[in-house]
Amino acid sequence: MSQQILVDLAENSYPIEIEAGLVKHSPVFLSHLKDKKLFIISNPTVSELYLEKLLGNLKQFQLEDVPVYLMPDGEQYKNLQQFEQIIARMLSLNLGRDTIIIALGGGVVGDLAGFVAACYQRGIPFIQIPTTLLAQIDASVGGKTAVNHPMGKNMIGAFHQPQQVLIDPETLLSLPQREYLAGIGEALKYGLLADEALFEWMEASMDKFLQRDLPILEKLIARCCQIKADIVAEDEKESGKRALLNLGHSFAHAIEAQTHYRQYLHGEAVAIGLHAAMKVSVAMNKSQQTHLQRLVSLLEKSGLPSTIPSSMDVEQLFLHMKKDKKNKAGKIRIVINHAIGDAELITCDDEALIKSSFPLRSASFHN
Ligand code: NAD
Ligand code: GLY
Repeated sequence: MSQQILVDLAENSYPIEIEAGLVKHSPVFLSHLKDKKLFIISNPTVSELYLEKLLGNLKQFQLEDVPVYLMPDGEQYKNLQQFEQIIARMLSLNLGRDTIIIALGGGVVGDLAGFVAACYQRGIPFIQIPTTLLAQIDASVGGKTAVNHPMGKNMIGAFHQPQQVLIDPETLLSLPQREYLAGIGEALKYGLLADEALFEWMEASMDKFLQRDLPILEKLIARCCQIKADIVAEDEKESGKRALLNLGHSFAHAIEAQTHYRQYLHGEAVAIGLHAAMKVSVAMNKSQQTHLQRLVSLLEKSGLPSTIPSSMDVEQLFLHMKKDKKNKAGKIRIVINHAIGDAELITCDDEALIKSSFPLRSASFHN
C-alpha cells in the first residue's frame, strides 16, 4: 500500500512517498522528471543493488545516459574532498541550474548529495531515495545537509529541503543486520519523544520488526516520517521544537567521538544515549523508574546495545558533551523525557548527574 506524507513548508513543501517496490517500478513518482537533466549520486554498494533498476525506470521517460557519481562507501568520505570532486564532475559535464540531483543511498550519500545540491550554482533541487532504515525515517527528511570536518561531524552544512523523498521499504531487505538495527534505535527515539503508542507498538511487535515484515515496516516508516514532518513544519531551522529530535544524541555524539566513530554505528550510540537521557530524567524526578525499565528491556529485546564498557573514560565523555552544538553560553543542553512520548530540552549544569548517567556495564556483561 502506498502512503504519502507532506512536509508542509510553504513554497518548500514536498511529499514523502512510501511504497514497497517503488525503486523497481516507480514511473508515477518519477514522471515529473521527463525532459529534466539529472545527476545521480550513490556509492558502489548501493548502486550494485539498485542503480540499474532506477536507470531502467528513468529510461521510460527518455531519460537515458544519466550521469552517475559513485562516492566511496563510508562516513569518512562525507567530506569536502568528495564535495569538491562532485562539483568538478558536474561542471565538467556542463550541468546548469536546471539539473536535479538524485541521492540514492543511506544517510552518508544523502547528506553529501544534499549539501552539493545546496551549493551547486547557489542551489539546485534534489530528490532523496534513501535505502537504509535510518535514512528513511530520519536523514532524508527535513533538509539538514552536511559534510564532516576533521574537527567535528556535520560541521559544514546547510538547510536545503529536497524536492521529493521516495522511500522503498523493500530496499531494507538487503541491509546488513547491524545497520538495520541502528535504524530501529532511531525509531525508538520517535516513540520516546513524541508517541507513546508507537513505543508500545514496538514493545508488542519487536519480533515482527526484527523479521523485517514489510507491511509493518511501511507503517513504522510512515509513522516516524509523520512525526518528523510535523516537527520540521513547525520549526524548520531548529530554533525550538526540532531540538527534541536530538533525544539521546548529546550522549550518543560523545560516545561516537570518544570511540573515533569506529566502534558504534550512529543508531547504536543513539540507543545508549536514549538510555542515558532516561536516567537523567528519572534522577531529576521528571520520569519514572518504570519508564527506564521498559526502555532497557526493549533495547535488550531488540539486540541494540544499551550500555558502554566501564573502562570508558567518563571525564572525557563529559568534555565531548561540553562541545555539543546545542549548548548555549557554555552550558550543556540535553533533551530529557517527562514520560514515554513526552520530551523537553533543558539546560543541565549538574556535571555529576550527567557523568553518572552514562550507562556503564561491568566487564562480565556482554551487550
Ligand atoms: P550509511 O549511509 O553509511 O549506510 C550504511 C551502510 O549501508 C553503508 O555501507 C551503505 O553503503 C549500506 N547500504 C545502504 N543502503 C543499503 C541497502 N539497501 N542494502 C545494503 N546496504 C546498504 O549510514 P546511515 O546510517 O544510512 O546514515 C548515517 C549518516 O546519516 C551519518 O553521516 C549521519 O550524520 C547522517 N544523518 C543525517 C541526518 C539528517 O537529518 N540529515 C539525520 C541522521 C543521520
Ligand atoms: N536528525 C535530527 C534533525 O533532523 O533535526
